[in-house]
Amino acid sequence: MLVHFVTDEPTKIPAARAMLEPRYHVVPQLLGGGDTQNSSSGVLMVDADLRKEVRVEQIKLVLLELSCIPEKLFVVQNHLHHMVAQALALGATAVVSRPREIVLKLEQIEVAQKAAQTELAVTSPEITDSAAAFASMFSAIRSGKPINLSDAENATSQIISSIAQNRLSTWLDDVRRYHEGTFQHCLLVTGVAVGFAMDIGFASPDVKRLGIAATLHDIGKAHIPISILDKPGALDPSEEEIMRRHPVIGYELLKDIPGISPELLDGVRHHHEYLDGSGYPDGLTAPEISDLVRLLTIADIFAALIESRPYRPTISRQNAYKILCGMDGKLERSLVKAFRNVALVA
Ligand SMILES: [Fe+2]
Ligand SMILES: [Fe+2]
Repeated sequence: MLVHFVTDEPTKIPAARAMLEPRYHVVPQLLGGGDTQNSSSGVLMVDADLRKEVRVEQIKLVLLELSCIPEKLFVVQNHLHHMVAQALALGATAVVSRPREIVLKLEQIEVAQKAAQTELAVTSPEITDSAAAFASMFSAIRSGKPINLSDAENATSQIISSIAQNRLSTWLDDVRRYHEGTFQHCLLVTGVAVGFAMDIGFASPDVKRLGIAATLHDIGKAHIPISILDKPGALDPSEEEIMRRHPVIGYELLKDIPGISPELLDGVRHHHEYLDGSGYPDGLTAPEISDLVRLLTIADIFAALIESRPYRPTISRQNAYKILCGMDGKLERSLVKAFRNVALVA
């Protein structure tokens, strides 16, 4: 099993190797010291001073790059209370203190991963592949490289085939179990949008058009600071102002790509617009909001509501649908009605 060992202290790397090798393959990474090696397997082990804000920011970046790894083990010496709290806020799946605990925990993870491997390989290769495509798109953008549209198309096709073969519910449950943050949101929105399009009888090219728009709808978040994206709690007004830039950033990132479709750009720029003109960034009103955007907005809000976040309880699909129904005037009533089956049953 791979152990991605992330630390802020160079001397901890040989110590970790001495403790874990040869049973595990240790891939060390010094915080602030270069690129993260992409991977979606093994376990992430973080041993750094979580009292330092700069370290926390660096860890968030690494976590984003390695968001496909579900197990995140944080080493907190003497179980210092506020460091444990910070580790959990960062998405730790386990917090350990002493070497013996580390070894024991890794053994447990290894056994559980082996047991899950067979089942996962059968039920959700699409999740692994599409999450990897999201990771690759986001990291390319962050390092100033152009977006590869075929990544988005591949991710969308994987999601469509998964939802066509299994139920939408299976997709939603699996994504919420294995992924976090922005990737989880994008995987959920695309799943919900695709499920919605299929449920109301769209032809397959139209399912794909909506699916790609959903896949890319929040791509502008690649340029929003992680501290805002993953803030555990409500954003303050200045953070909210920055967050609200993501539709325009996404539009700017995509608009010059040869062959990009105008409706895809429309979806990326306008998925936060409301029929009554109260949305952003352009304050559009009903006649200016396309059908694709209306569908995408419903999928986006529903997916955001049912997301699994470490710092708040998950909202049930029933309650999320009730909230959508309460947004009369902002969302198209007939579409919200048509969405009922997707929200509650599919
Ligand atoms: Fe958005
Ligand atoms: Fe979104």
